[in-house]
Amino acid sequence: MKKLQKALALVCVGLMSITANAQDKPITTTPPMGWMSWFPFIDKINEKVIMETADAMVKSGLRDVGYKLLQLDDGWMAAKRDKEGRQYADSSRFPHGMKYLADYVHSRGLKIGIYSSNGMQTCAGYPGGYNHEELDAKTYAAWGIDYLKYDACGEKEKHTDRELHTRMSNALKATGRPIMFEICIFSSGTTHLWGAQIADMWRTGGDIVKFIDRTPEVTYKNWYGNLNQVVGKEAYAGNGHWNDPDNLIVDYPRNNKQTFEEEKAQFSLWSIVAAPLVLGNDVRNISADAKTILLNKEVIAIDQDKAGKQGTRAVADDQKEIWVKPLSDGSKAVVLFNKQDKAAQLNINFGDISTPKKVKVRDLWEHANKGIFTDTYSAQVAPHGVVMLKLTEPK
Ligand code: GLA
Repeated sequence: MKKLQKALALVCVGLMSITANAQDKPITTTPPMGWMSWFPFIDKINEKVIMETADAMVKSGLRDVGYKLLQLDDGWMAAKRDKEGRQYADSSRFPHGMKYLADYVHSRGLKIGIYSSNGMQTCAGYPGGYNHEELDAKTYAAWGIDYLKYDACGEKEKHTDRELHTRMSNALKATGRPIMFEICIFSSGTTHLWGAQIADMWRTGGDIVKFIDRTPEVTYKNWYGNLNQVVGKEAYAGNGHWNDPDNLIVDYPRNNKQTFEEEKAQFSLWSIVAAPLVLGNDVRNISADAKTILLNKEVIAIDQDKAGKQGTRAVADDQKEIWVKPLSDGSKAVVLFNKQDKAAQLNINFGDISTPKKVKVRDLWEHANKGIFTDTYSAQVAPHGVVMLKLTEPK
């Protein structure tokens, strides 16, 4: 009987966490995971690409390890609103319309996200949500949309971003459909101060790849800069609300000069800071290396740990950084990042990261137990690469 009660309670908690509205209770209690169209396709998206992407997310196993959200970024909409003032999908690129696409995405066991902006135009120049918030929210709900990324581009007379994002948040709430809400004010470093009141997550800074169609090279420095923007904002993350340092650039499709180790490093660091894990590659042509990284369940489990704590940078010197995240089972996840241009043997002193003197060490990329260590652990780390560990106190 007790077992049955416990099972029922768990089902209730599960249902609550997916049916509550974004602005009251979090829709997901761990960082969202999914894919976004902006990095691979800019605004050149169409029905075929999105449907193939949905299929590829299933076939590659991405969906089954947690990447459940398929997000259309800027460029899905027609250049003008219709006679009733409604936004609608560009009919040459989305001939069956958005409801059809949402149904298709849902039939693949995925959720669908969409994009707009709080001004009169989106960042790529399409019609934005300004003064159409209620109508747009109702339209999205009627299509079956599960997520809205709301940007801050376009003319907005004298209104502030906070005011206009709040309008849209309220409009989504009024639809009665649980629609996750992301605030994208890329020019502001202060959204975290109020973001959790109206949204599930908020961008903490600019685009990882700026001038996306013209960037001569994409390196680890792109993500390293964005990572730094979540530091100091740890207290605002958790309980279903997340700092978002922007999408992953693992397997980024244009001018990507990152090494495998650098891509692993981004994935590890995004996980240690409980960032949303949103793919920025063409999953239809995913590389074998990217699969190794993006499907690593042990690293994903750190990002998705139910305590929902954003990890902190405990040590930073010229050679290395050590990041630490406390986990719900009492253990700690640790990332040892080599900042140097050469491989190096680096050391973690347990005293610096407040772990017990003696710990069991598991390497989350080697998928191997390394043994029990006292006071310190040292490892060879690739240039701009990481070693990622789970440290547990032995029983
Ligand atoms: C801004 C956002 C990007 C992307 C583009 C779309 O630059 O920060 O993530 O959504 O707009 O135009």
